[in-house]
Amino acid sequence: MQSTPDVMALAHRINPYPLYAELRRDHPVCRVEPGGLMAISRYKDVEYVLKHPELFSSHGLRVAWQPEWVGDNPVAQSLAASDGEEHARLRSLVSRAFTPVAINRLDEKVRASAARLAEGLLARGESDFMEEFATPLPARAISNLLGFDPALERHYKRWTGVIVGVTPVPENEEHVSRTRDTIAEMKRYVQQIIDARRSQPDDDVMGLIVKGGPNGQRPSNQEIIGLAFTLLAAGLETTSFFFAHALRLLAERPDVLERLRADRKLLPKFIEEMLRYNGPIRGLPRIVMADVELSGVRIEHGACILPLIASANRDETRFPHADRFDLAREQTGISFGFGSHYCLGAFLARLEAQAGLDALLDRFSGFSLIPEGVVWNRSLVTSGPLKMPVRVLPV
Ligand code: HEM
Repeated sequence: MQSTPDVMALAHRINPYPLYAELRRDHPVCRVEPGGLMAISRYKDVEYVLKHPELFSSHGLRVAWQPEWVGDNPVAQSLAASDGEEHARLRSLVSRAFTPVAINRLDEKVRASAARLAEGLLARGESDFMEEFATPLPARAISNLLGFDPALERHYKRWTGVIVGVTPVPENEEHVSRTRDTIAEMKRYVQQIIDARRSQPDDDVMGLIVKGGPNGQRPSNQEIIGLAFTLLAAGLETTSFFFAHALRLLAERPDVLERLRADRKLLPKFIEEMLRYNGPIRGLPRIVMADVELSGVRIEHGACILPLIASANRDETRFPHADRFDLAREQTGISFGFGSHYCLGAFLARLEAQAGLDALLDRFSGFSLIPEGVVWNRSLVTSGPLKMPVRVLPV
């Protein structure tokens, strides 16, 4: 292994698991590029970090998403990147919109759009799965909830890919200008929605945030923009990659596909095991708030660490035969986090996953990927393809 492995090297973006296995075995706390963060790879350490927000601050996401070269990035100032009382206050502004009762109201709409998108795949035969299915499905769901214009859907993934695709060091000048221009474009759009909700209240999530919290507190304009950026990115970046990884598994494992087609009751199991086996979250940067020790390695106060969720989910000490996709596995992964930052959209994500996979299984007996056309994202936090050409075989 290189002394400082680069987790963004193409080989590790395509398949990070051999590197993670090596890290868990020999270097459980290891400096990595880009940015020199300390990667934390063992399950017990990742769990410890996420369960102790007083020792490991979410301002790590602030550092990751807003290095100096980016300028202002509202997602880096908001919910996921905040701690303590500030975090609790921001979360209380939006949590009402994500209860199972509120989300279940979307079920019919999500199923209808999954059916339409799957019909589109059928008609094309060969297409980019990200563009035709994996992205528009969550984009429609989250824009519906937020009250964003569905006609602008194709811009949403472009925006969120850029705002969470910030790396400690830019790839080149074009990366710098694209990032800054996209953030400015996104801010202008969100501001229009805020102004519209101020003059004409609405009961969508943007209307709810603008109106203020349960105890009468009103968020600042900057906070509203940050929440909108966060919800759009969290709702889109993750679920779209979930579908990509799920489709890839179904293409490679026709036996699993057959079992699901024969018994849809296995779908919830499939979804949980898929999230563990190859979920959309790579890592969740944190700042260390005191001198600590993990796996016998001392880490100094102020260090920026990268707990690798995807590595924890393949830890043999927690998941026997961790590299095996196992529909009968009882233990679920660490995929939605823990504690105060536990994924607000977990119920929505599962609903979308179920509806989307149902629509695909209804229509297709198989999938084959066209590996030459796959383009991988570059983000410390999420991992998945930006393009994934696929050929579908109708039932
Ligand atoms: C398969 C899909 C998804 C996965 C694997 C996932 C995973 C996660 C994880 C691991 C966290 C914890 C972050 C941390 O501790 O720093 C998180 C937070 C969050 N997720 Fe998800 N997520 C998914 C889908 C969604 C969806 C559809 C939404 C809808 C908006 C969403 C909204 C959020 C929000 C707002 C937070 C921040 C919560 C907080 O900081 O209090 N997620 N998610």
